[in-house]
Amino acid sequence: MASSLQLSSLLLIAVVALLISPATSQTCKSQTFAQRNTKFANCTDLPTLKAQLHWTYDPSARPNPTLNVAFIAPPARPEGWVAWALNPTGSGMVGAQALIAFKDTNGSAVVKTYNISSYSSIAESRISYEVLSKRAEFADGAVRIFATLALPTGGEAVNQVWQVGSSVKDGVPVKHDFSAENMQSRGTLQLVSKAAEEDTAPPPTNSNGGEAPTGAQRGNDSGGSSRICVSGLGLYGVLVLLGVSLFLGF
Ligand SMILES: *[C@@H]1O[C@H](CO)[C@@H](O)[C@H](O)[C@H]1NC(C)=O
Ligand SMILES: *[C@@H]1O[C@H](CO)[C@@H](O)[C@H](O)[C@H]1NC(C)=O
Ligand SMILES: *[C@@H]1O[C@H](CO)[C@@H](O)[C@H](O)[C@H]1NC(C)=O
Ligand SMILES: *[C@@H]1O[C@H](CO)[C@@H](O)[C@H](O)[C@H]1NC(C)=O
Repeated sequence: MASSLQLSSLLLIAVVALLISPATSQTCKSQTFAQRNTKFANCTDLPTLKAQLHWTYDPSARPNPTLNVAFIAPPARPEGWVAWALNPTGSGMVGAQALIAFKDTNGSAVVKTYNISSYSSIAESRISYEVLSKRAEFADGAVRIFATLALPTGGEAVNQVWQVGSSVKDGVPVKHDFSAENMQSRGTLQLVSKAAEEDTAPPPTNSNGGEAPTGAQRGNDSGGSSRICVSGLGLYGVLVLLGVSLFLGF
């Protein structure tokens, strides 16, 4: 009788573990690009909205450094939109120099630029960065924005903001939700490692949960993604361990 109780609690644990397993959601590591020459030096699993940013910063590009990105996120609804922005003057939405991707009235994927000066309305406009290229793809339930921006020289970090929305009306993205996740979708993109500041920075942690993922935008393709994966697996691992100890502990 005791063992059947343990067996059922093990089963329950296994089911719960499966439900929260990160395997179903996309991460930096699971993403591949159809076009052969599409490669990025760095990738970060962003802390909210199931978004990723693949990126390559080239500080030696002339006349200006370039930032080449692929921003990937599932829109709030299939017919919605996704946005990625740099904000040179603040950390939130106001001031964001945004790229927003959606399906235009004729059904083709487009990326448009928006200089966002208020929460109340947005209008397509020039942005303060030169956009050297941009395009969007709808694939696997997500939208991908590919873009190359020219950045001012000498920047080591930029504020980034990202967002997803559920609909587009008459070619204009409709306001997004204001859930906690939507409001926390911002952080710092560290273009160049701040080696000089390493001493004063909090020690890098490789244990799970040691540091909030917000703003954890350092590291490249292996570093950026593994950190989030580890914390995702952490809970899973704890549950499996719990199951094993219950099993052994009768
Ligand atoms: C990861 O970052 C390190 C240091 O910034 C760099 O040396 C290495 O080439 C990067 N790896 C990739 C795949 O870009
Ligand atoms: C759809 O609209 C975009 C611009 O809004 C245009 O570039 C594209 O050629 C159009 N496609 C078709 C099939 O009409
Ligand atoms: C963006 O909007 C702000 C506020 O309206 C304005 O000061 C700024 O010049 C605009 N930037 C560009 C590139 O148009
Ligand atoms: C990759 O990310 C690291 C850490 O932020 C940064 O130092 C490095 O310059 C990036 N490399 C490229 C090529 O973007």
